[in-house]
Amino acid sequence: MARRGGGALGLWLLLLLCRLQDPGSGAPAQPGPLAVGQFWHVSDLHLDPTYHITQDHTKVCSSSKGANASNPGPFGDFFCDSPYQLILSAFEYMKNSKQQASFMIWTGDSPPHVPVEELSTKMVINVIGNMTSTIQSFFPDLQVFPALGNHDYWPQDQLPVSASKVYSAVADFWKPWLTDEAISTFKKGGFYTQLFQPSVSPQPLRIISLNTNLYYSPNHVTLNITDPANQFAWLESVLEVSLRKKEKVYVIGHVPVGYLPFTRNITAIRGYYNERLVKIFRKYSDVIAGQFFGHTHRDSIMILLDEKGNPINSLFVAPAVTPVKSVVQRESNNPGVRLYQYDTLHYSLLDLWQFYLNLTDANMKNESNWKLEYILTKTYGVEDLKPENLYEMAKQFTVPHDKLFQQYYNNFIVSYDRSIVCEGNCKLSQICAIQYLDHSSYTDCIERG
Ligand SMILES: *[C@@H]1O[C@H](CO)[C@@H](O)[C@H](O)[C@H]1NC(C)=O
Ligand SMILES: *[C@@H]1O[C@H](CO)[C@@H](O)[C@H](O)[C@H]1NC(C)=O
Ligand SMILES: *[C@@H]1O[C@H](CO)[C@@H](O)[C@H](O)[C@H]1NC(C)=O
Ligand SMILES: *[C@@H]1O[C@H](CO)[C@@H](O)[C@H](O)[C@H]1NC(C)=O
Ligand SMILES: *[C@@H]1O[C@H](CO)[C@@H](O)[C@H](O)[C@H]1NC(C)=O
Ligand SMILES: *[C@@H]1O[C@H](CO)[C@@H](O)[C@H](O)[C@H]1NC(C)=O
Repeated sequence: MARRGGGALGLWLLLLLCRLQDPGSGAPAQPGPLAVGQFWHVSDLHLDPTYHITQDHTKVCSSSKGANASNPGPFGDFFCDSPYQLILSAFEYMKNSKQQASFMIWTGDSPPHVPVEELSTKMVINVIGNMTSTIQSFFPDLQVFPALGNHDYWPQDQLPVSASKVYSAVADFWKPWLTDEAISTFKKGGFYTQLFQPSVSPQPLRIISLNTNLYYSPNHVTLNITDPANQFAWLESVLEVSLRKKEKVYVIGHVPVGYLPFTRNITAIRGYYNERLVKIFRKYSDVIAGQFFGHTHRDSIMILLDEKGNPINSLFVAPAVTPVKSVVQRESNNPGVRLYQYDTLHYSLLDLWQFYLNLTDANMKNESNWKLEYILTKTYGVEDLKPENLYEMAKQFTVPHDKLFQQYYNNFIVSYDRSIVCEGNCKLSQICAIQYLDHSSYTDCIERG
């Protein structure tokens, strides 16, 4: 205890010195006794290069697929993927916020949601290249850890189990961020691992970027394959070494493990792969200090429980930058980006700051007025993001008409519409998806009602 405290104090002084040497930085002023590091998370940029304001609202963007845009403005529309200006506004806000981040994670999906014949391998590669250079132009010195999304391929979802034109082209884009070893596994299967040493931390962090698109249900290439691209075997071997070396790991990926919170009894990846991933994450939960995904476009939390029901891992799904929804969907999300805080000794997660753009307001005022949406610990009254604290929060949500749950749901849709209430079946699906990631415990939860 004393030694730990001493180390933390030393680091805190170090951090303070770094800050004194860098007067331009405006990191949040509440690290307390722990030294705090920060990192950004952006996901689902989905650039639609066709977006433009025009009288005929069916022609505003290809991604509306012939539907009328609802209220198109300079920052986008809820029936369209991101105009370039929206994406620029997000990175500009992050840069101007002067938050000190050690790194950024970027969990994929750059191309727009358009019919398959409107894209090509070349166009998909171009969009990923465009998003990569856009990020680099705002953050030339920041370490970025990217992951591939199911749209980062052509045809979409069909990510292959061996070398491909896309993997190879994207590897070239990401060379400034990744080691030779990471590039080499990435070229073969779209996944990698890399050690990172933040300047504020005494020991390195291991990032594992998974290609969970290989497990995604619409991926026909991997049907019947028990271990696509041998990623499971690779993952277990990486985690086994991490366990021996007492490393801490953040797992990042696009398609999340677990159940989709907005529907009933559907995992994001195929059921068989989900069971297998849950098993691996349980086995190595001591090593894994956090898991970060995208794909659903919504802001959600999951807590992995062990077989006895003890909380052992915290998982986060970041909302999208794209505001797009289809005509059949009741609700969408405002564009969001987020910042996590971690303790620099153990990489345990301390807090999450969610930022968003009120799209309606931004369009109305022609102003990129991104702002803080919520701070997780303050909103939910928890001490930090440890699994046991988030599990207590989740149990509180189950209370009928719980106000905190309504707040969670409002955050889920990134403040899209405060008047939308999630009760009954809507709430049950959410509650079970938050706490139960495997088939048997999830099914029990649904049956308990
Ligand atoms: C990225 O795409 C946008 C929108 O199509 C375009 O304006 C911009 O010039 C492109 N940037 C790069 C670096 O390719
Ligand atoms: C789009 O809006 C126009 C004008 O209101 C209407 O005439 C047209 O039918 C709409 N198109 C679709 C596909 O909804
Ligand atoms: C998967 O297996 C099923 C049943 O054995 C078979 O019908 C199907 O063709 C296989 N699909 C692929 C893509 O290999
Ligand atoms: C849920 O889905 C699984 C696999 O898709 C299926 O085996 C099970 O019967 C379903 N359960 C319910 C209650 O629908
Ligand atoms: C978003 O902006 C609109 C228009 O200014 C406003 O009516 C709405 O209340 C805002 N939403 C939130 C969550 O602040
Ligand atoms: C919105 O603001 C930009 C500059 O910030 C300006 O160039 C543009 O003309 C404005 N658009 C409208 C519709 O007022």
